[in-house]
Amino acid sequence: MRLPIIAGNWKMNTTVSEAVTLVQEMKATLEQVEGVERVLCPPFVSLSAIKELLQDSPIKLGAQNMYFEEKGAFTGEVSPRMLVDLCEYVILGHSERRQYFREDDNMINKKLKLALKSGLKPILCVGEKLEENEAGKTEDVVSHQVKAALVGIEPLKELVIAYEPIWAIGTGRAASGEQANNTIGFIRRIAAGVLGENIAAAIRIQYGGSVTAANTAEFLSQPEIDGALVGGASLKAAEFVSIVRQTAEIKK
Ligand code: 13P
Repeated sequence: MRLPIIAGNWKMNTTVSEAVTLVQEMKATLEQVEGVERVLCPPFVSLSAIKELLQDSPIKLGAQNMYFEEKGAFTGEVSPRMLVDLCEYVILGHSERRQYFREDDNMINKKLKLALKSGLKPILCVGEKLEENEAGKTEDVVSHQVKAALVGIEPLKELVIAYEPIWAIGTGRAASGEQANNTIGFIRRIAAGVLGENIAAAIRIQYGGSVTAANTAEFLSQPEIDGALVGGASLKAAEFVSIVRQTAEIKK
């Protein structure tokens, strides 16, 4: 049995005080839900304040990115050594990082290795562009991204993968549950080729891309889908809590 995991990726939204308010709005209800791992990924600058708020809470924290060196002259970057005191998870290889900040497979592989070595649990994002999807290249693209990210990685069941088709992110045009389930099943088979059957059967694979309270059941009722990486809807307390609650109900 894989423990479902719902993570909120707040992206570049919320000031520190807005972030604190948002956590205060959802904390009590989110804490009541059982059987689902709940992870909030606010901007770096809010991690410390939210960590204070979540002392002794089952709600976990994640960062949205990190650099692939431990320390040094890398102005403006944040290293895993800094994050490990603040959070448990780190999102790596998000399509916005790949697209706007030119992160390539090699860089993402270095980040993944260092995250694991540093004791952070990575949420590795993969997913195809609209034109790749329309050209029937989805499996080629995600297979390449997964294999490239996992080169030289020790097989670890702490790894989480998020399948986020780029055309579904922030567009309101989510994949269908069946489409997402098929691609996630495919990703698990690719992971099995690299990490072995047992590890691949144990790692959690999320769907991400326009997940809302209204379509949660469509995705989470699928057997291969172990959770969601939620963008826009994670910035609304009641909606995020509803996604987590529905997940608990469906997967129990
Ligand atoms: P949306 O839920 O806003 O489509 O964003 C998805 C995403 O990119 C989460 O990482």
